[in-house]
Amino acid sequence: MRLVILPNSDDVAEFACDLFARQLLEKPNSILGLATGSSPTTLYKKLIERQQGGDISFSKVTSFNLDEYVGLNGEHTQSYRHFMNEQLFDHIDIDKGRTFVPNGVAKDPNEECKRYEEMIALAGGVDLQLLGIGINGHIGFNEPLSSLSSRTRVKTLTKSTIEANSRFFGPDERQPTDSMTMGIGTILDAKQVVLLATGAHKAEAVRGCVEGAVTASCPASALQLHQHAIVVVDEAAAELLSMKDYAIWAETRHIAMEQM
Ligand code: F6R
Repeated sequence: MRLVILPNSDDVAEFACDLFARQLLEKPNSILGLATGSSPTTLYKKLIERQQGGDISFSKVTSFNLDEYVGLNGEHTQSYRHFMNEQLFDHIDIDKGRTFVPNGVAKDPNEECKRYEEMIALAGGVDLQLLGIGINGHIGFNEPLSSLSSRTRVKTLTKSTIEANSRFFGPDERQPTDSMTMGIGTILDAKQVVLLATGAHKAEAVRGCVEGAVTASCPASALQLHQHAIVVVDEAAAELLSMKDYAIWAETRHIAMEQM
């Protein structure tokens, strides 16, 4: 695992933006795995700027989002399809027909998950998967106790996730309690994975992800099994890491070797 600790959240987004830009330059028809929530929003702004500035193009990209709420259709303002259109897709040169988010109102949610999994495989698998992390260590909506080899499926949210995400819902809006999410096994199949975490409220989850035992109690710890996982955090999110100094030193070596 490559652990990158940067001074603040803007640096984290800039690092991730460089990573995505490099991916698109190397493989313009990349399959991208995308996330919602607050963690990627600055990254998405930066990607929009770079695309509109002509540095990168999404015209040949296919994307698969991690998850969607069961019961919300794509027009619902809290659906993840709506989030992606608003935060990224409406502002870049991507073909929206090649952007995929699970259908939250599919008649048979289990079938929809199976179909989604098959579509990812058919597309050739995800090249670069973006992740945030929940305060309970979830990735996608793989809550603690999720099988480390799980595939896309319906997953009931924990009370802590429902509470953490209640900030997005109005007082009169019904908040879903179930999701469709790529599984941990699905995520681990991506060729490269990048997880972003910022703020002191993520420090405990980041410690579990990076330094804890590999356990279903902290789904993000499964990234320790991935050969090309990069965890990018700001100093606040890194504050509980005992290997912080090593990570900072190793990163200077990494940069030096890249420049050789
Ligand atoms: C979003 C997702 C979730 C979030 C996580 C962190 O598609 O799959 O795992 O990444 O809940 O959310 P934020 O970034 O809002 O703290």
